[in-house]
Amino acid sequence: MKEVINKLENFIREKNIEAEHMLRTGFWLREIYPEADEAMYVAAICHDIERCFPLREGEVKPPKTGDDSKDGEYLLWHGKRSAEFTEKLLRGYGFEDEQVMERIITLITDHSFGGSEERDLMMDADSISLLENNILLFIKEGKDKKELEEKTVSEFEKLSSGKAREFAMPFYEKLLRELRNN
Ligand SMILES: [Fe+2]
Repeated sequence: MKEVINKLENFIREKNIEAEHMLRTGFWLREIYPEADEAMYVAAICHDIERCFPLREGEVKPPKTGDDSKDGEYLLWHGKRSAEFTEKLLRGYGFEDEQVMERIITLITDHSFGGSEERDLMMDADSISLLENNILLFIKEGKDKKELEEKTVSEFEKLSSGKAREFAMPFYEKLLRELRNN
């Protein structure tokens, strides 16, 4: 599995679409949950991987508002599509453990929904990485600061454990300073 993980990490780095966000989600998963197995790690680094693949003919991306409570259809589509491309990559690398494959597919499909210990861990790692990486990029891109502040607060508040909040705190505070000061 180590070799397969290396190949996935290289694929993500080479595509360079959300690479930092996905790889750091894997990193934060291991920080908040050192017991995470390789299936969870693979799910974490591949959870948004569909964004590396353009829409295929006839494929329609459901509308996305950025507010998770309104984006159920999009989030399900996004999770399933990321699971599908992860499975393709894994099979292409010769990975054949069907039980582990099934676990990875389920974890990725459900990564935006929470509700079980593993799902919450995936969501927490995703949110910490988002606070660490993506929101700074959104600020640089000139996105609306009020909206980004709301996003920052809601991402921080939905963290499911004190440990996750502890890791996220420095990014959260830095973002709020940046978003509120000018
Ligand atoms: Fe993500």
